Amino acid sequence: WATFLDDIRAIEELKRQRNAIILAHNYQTPEIFHCVADIRGDSLALAREAQEASADVIVMAGVHFMAETAKMLNPDSTVLIPDMRAGCSLADSITAADVRLLRERHPGVPVVTYVNTSAEVKAESDICCTSGNAKRVVESLGTDRVIMIPDEFLARNIEAETGIQMITWPGHCEVHERFTPQEITRMREDNPGVVVLAHPECPPEVVAVSDFSGSTAMMSDYVQAHDGGKVLLVTECSMSDNLALLHPKIDFVRPCNMCPHMKRITLSGLRHALETMTHEVTIDPALAARGRRAVERMLAI
Ligand code: 13P
Ligand code: SF4
Repeated sequence: WATFLDDIRAIEELKRQRNAIILAHNYQTPEIFHCVADIRGDSLALAREAQEASADVIVMAGVHFMAETAKMLNPDSTVLIPDMRAGCSLADSITAADVRLLRERHPGVPVVTYVNTSAEVKAESDICCTSGNAKRVVESLGTDRVIMIPDEFLARNIEAETGIQMITWPGHCEVHERFTPQEITRMREDNPGVVVLAHPECPPEVVAVSDFSGSTAMMSDYVQAHDGGKVLLVTECSMSDNLALLHPKIDFVRPCNMCPHMKRITLSGLRHALETMTHEVTIDPALAARGRRAVERMLAI
C-alpha cells in the first residue's frame, strides 16, 4: 500500500509540474483507471480527447497505436507511452504494403481501417473506424463493397449488421478470438437472467449468442443505464473490474480474457515515464499528415 500511495502522489505532482494528462483506456487496471487517469474511455473517446487536449504532455495508459493516434491528432504535444512493447495483435497483423496490394486487387473499393493499426497503415487508408462507430463509418461511404481491415471478425460482424459486403484481412484480437459460443451458452445456463454484452472483436458466432454487441464505451453506457442484475462482459478483464467499483449493485459474471499488452502499463511505469519523459512517440510529419486525414475523416462523421 505504501508504494502504491507513494506512486499515486508522485504521479499527481509530476502531472502538475509537467502540465501533463493521463489518458486511460477502459482496459487499464483499476488503480490506473480510477486513481491517476484524467480521461477515461474507449479508442474513439481517447482519440477525440487527445485532439482537444491543451496539455504539454499526453501520457497514454493504453497501447502503442493509441499513442500514435494521439500524436497524429495533437502534433504539438509530447506524447509518452510508459512501455514501447505495449502492442496489439491486430496492429501487428498488417503492413502498409499489404494495404497497397489489397487496393491493387480491388480497384475503386474504399479502404476502412480499424484504428488498431500503425501510422503507416492508416496513411494508406481512406478512412478509419473504431468499434464504436464502425457501422456509421461503413454506411457513410455509400458503396455496396468495402475493404475492411485488419479485424476479420469486426468486419464480419459489421457485414451482418449492414448487409454491405466486406473484403477482409485475417487479423484477430488475441483476447477476443478466444471466446467461444459454447462458453457463453454454459454461462447463461449457470446464471439465469444474465445479460451478455460482447465486444465486436469477438467471433461472429459469439456475437450471435449475445444480447448486445458494442465498443467498451457502449458497454459502460449499458451498465450505467441498468443499475442491477447480472451482466457478462465478453471482453478484457479490467473492464468488469473498473465498472464493478462504480456499480456495486450489478453482479458481474466472469470469466474474461486478459490483454498482455494493456497490462504492460503499470502505476510505477507511469511514474517513471513522467519522471524521465520516456518513451516519446514520434511520427514522421509527412506520414502523420497522411494518416491524420483518415482519422479526421472518421472523427467528422
Ligand atoms: P474499444 O475500447 O474502442 O471498444 O476497443 C477495444 C480494444 O480492444 C482496444 O484495443
Ligand atoms: Fe489489441 Fe485485443 Fe489487446 Fe485491444 S485487447 S490492444 S485489440 S490485443
